[in-house]
Amino acid sequence: MIFTTPANPVKYLDPSWDFRQADTKTFTHCFHTYPAMMIPQVAARLIATYGSPATTLFDPYCGTGTSLVEGNLHHLDAIGTDLNPLARLIAQAKTTPLHLPALDACLKDFADEMFAAMFDIRRVNVAVPTIENLDYWFDKPIQEKLAYLKNFIDQLTDPAIANFFKVAFSETVRACSWTRNSEFKMFRMTAEQIKKFQPDVFGVMQSKLARNRRGLQAFMEQRRDHVSARVYDFNTVKGIPSEIIPPQSIDLVVTSPPYGDSKTTVAYGQFSRLSNEWLGLASARQIDRQLMGGDAAKEIKDFDCAVLNQAIAEIATKDDPRAKEVVAFYEDYRHSIAHVAPVVKAGGVVCYVVGNRRVKGVPLPTDEITQKFFEPHGFAHIETIIRHIPNKRMPSRNSPTNVVGAQDSTMCYEYIVVLRKNL
Ligand SMILES: C[S@@+](CC[C@H](N)C(=O)[O-])C[C@H]1O[C@@H](n2cnc3c(N)ncnc32)[C@H](O)[C@@H]1O
Repeated sequence: MIFTTPANPVKYLDPSWDFRQADTKTFTHCFHTYPAMMIPQVAARLIATYGSPATTLFDPYCGTGTSLVEGNLHHLDAIGTDLNPLARLIAQAKTTPLHLPALDACLKDFADEMFAAMFDIRRVNVAVPTIENLDYWFDKPIQEKLAYLKNFIDQLTDPAIANFFKVAFSETVRACSWTRNSEFKMFRMTAEQIKKFQPDVFGVMQSKLARNRRGLQAFMEQRRDHVSARVYDFNTVKGIPSEIIPPQSIDLVVTSPPYGDSKTTVAYGQFSRLSNEWLGLASARQIDRQLMGGDAAKEIKDFDCAVLNQAIAEIATKDDPRAKEVVAFYEDYRHSIAHVAPVVKAGGVVCYVVGNRRVKGVPLPTDEITQKFFEPHGFAHIETIIRHIPNKRMPSRNSPTNVVGAQDSTMCYEYIVVLRKNL
């Protein structure tokens, strides 16, 4: 048993939060996969439970914008930030209503263009962009077709419609590359798999566009006109610009922070690299270093949190550099929380959906650490709901023990930590 409930009634396992049979790809949630996505049902239930009478939701690690979409669907204004440009593009597209007749006109132009191109790809001479290791990840004819798609998108004059196409293009890039699609990190297919791999690039793009068009229409039908969504690229570890989010202006935070640094947990940058490079999004290769815990700490330090200090000391006895990586991550996390806390209104609620991983076999109770980091800023713990994650897709080569394929049983659970700011 990983946890006990009777001793701590505000921390409990609740199977009703598993959402085992739930469709997680409704509305614009279908737009694009991403590592460690929050499931919309969790965001929706948190908003329903704690979002009244909220008007503004903030997600400081918004990823592809799951909580922003749910915020808008529940009639809240939503603000998100993420350092990964691909995540921001997706979050923006998922929360931007479009003029559907204009979108449909572009989709028709696209279908006509692809039909003509099937017979003569060289009708338009499109240069393949310079991307490092392009030939390692894409067959030559695929490169030409992707360049052709990118060229079509570059001609679109409405930036919001262009974003809609870019999101479908990003998934097409990944689906038509020689990366193993079952992995979030970049691993190449085997020679045998490559021989058999003949994706229909234009067909893939068209089916993603059609799927996303349906999701967008459903989103627009439920969303009310007055709500807004804004997606930024500021780093809450460094601060929150007060001209974007003034102090005491947020009613509700619903977020899922990274589990740890990108190098040893989920490699968001690697997952996004091919898309970011094809789309010309900034510094695709630097992302993992910029995310929380990206720069290892120079020394072990003490936190105002006993469970964290004990865990770090134990890891240090086994592997000092790993202990410093853990320090770096939690130091960034602590700074981020210190910057998020003041923008929340008195009486406002923060909901952090976290994972408790192990490093070198030592458990890191991020749920308790989150609570301890918020409390000095005037927050009181309301509850921690533990949910079992059905079908969790974890990076198989990214085990907590560094043993290939080894997985951590604690990562089959998510901890939803809820705190309220004192009045
Ligand atoms: C667990 S994911 C969020 C997934 C999101 N809830 C969704 O459903 O798509 C964590 C995100 O935190 C972002 N991130 C990591 N460090 C960050 C930082 N310092 N500031 C902003 N975002 C950061 C990563 O790029 C990643 O997108």
